[in-house]
Amino acid sequence: MSWYQGARIAVTGAAGGIGRATCAHLAGLGAEVYALDLTESPAGRSILCDVTDEDSVAAAIARVVTEGGRIDGLVAAAGVVEDDVPAERMSAAEFDRVLGVNLRGTFLSCAAAARRMLDGTGGRIVTVSSMSGTHIVNHPQKQSAYNASKAAVSALTRSLAVEWGPRGVRVNSIAPGYVATALNDLKQHLHAGWKEGTVAGRFAEPEEIAAAIAWLLGDEAAYCVGTELLMDGGFALR
Ligand SMILES: NC(=O)c1ccc[n+]([C@@H]2O[C@H](COP(=O)([O-])OP(=O)(O)OC[C@H]3O[C@@H](n4cnc5c(N)ncnc54)[C@H](O)[C@@H]3O)[C@@H](O)[C@H]2O)c1
Repeated sequence: MSWYQGARIAVTGAAGGIGRATCAHLAGLGAEVYALDLTESPAGRSILCDVTDEDSVAAAIARVVTEGGRIDGLVAAAGVVEDDVPAERMSAAEFDRVLGVNLRGTFLSCAAAARRMLDGTGGRIVTVSSMSGTHIVNHPQKQSAYNASKAAVSALTRSLAVEWGPRGVRVNSIAPGYVATALNDLKQHLHAGWKEGTVAGRFAEPEEIAAAIAWLLGDEAAYCVGTELLMDGGFALR
């Protein structure tokens, strides 16, 4: 029996493009998927949750454990991006909003899930960072808060991998390039340039990212510990 079959897996940002595709992919592999988001997700068992709120995250993970008996996996995909704001004009509130969801939210989700996994039979976590955490040169758009938050998610992931790995919780991240989801809707004017910047000549489909997330969770990726899988269509090579 594969690890996925019957695995209890929570996905944050589950109403969004990558989260929804991940829920569907994992369900297709036989997992029992819990879809955490601010809004109802059509995929998996929907649990409303604000990842920036410690109590909300704790309650959501508790519900997964109550309903499923345990939690075996977490995909931390909730994320937001600021509009095209030059850094010198960004308000502190906007900076905090982006860091709040992307960094604090990822930390709270991982910590809440890991508390259960470390007490139980271990688990697997995949965070969603971004190509933007490392590859900032040639980005025509201004998104300093987003880029900083994603670099921090990468560092957080490596730190958690080292802390929890020896105790049975394997943590990795995926760093997508441009993916065809609502996150990029506000930046339509930049899409042609983004596509041109890739070797692949296109955006990724959310399903391609979902399949890679599932692989990172699974047994075949057992030797990936604190690994960041860059999946950017070759953008960073140019
Ligand atoms: N789309 C891309 O090009 C791209 C590239 C690299 C990384 N990513 C990352 O992938 C992840 C998923 O993004 P997506 O492209 O599917 O975007 P999306 O906008 O389609 O989905 C994001 C989801 O996060 C949810 N969310 C936002 N704030 C939340 C909160 N406080 N609590 C719970 N849920 C919250 C939203 O409701 C939404 O459903 C994000 O972390 C994003 O930064 C996306």
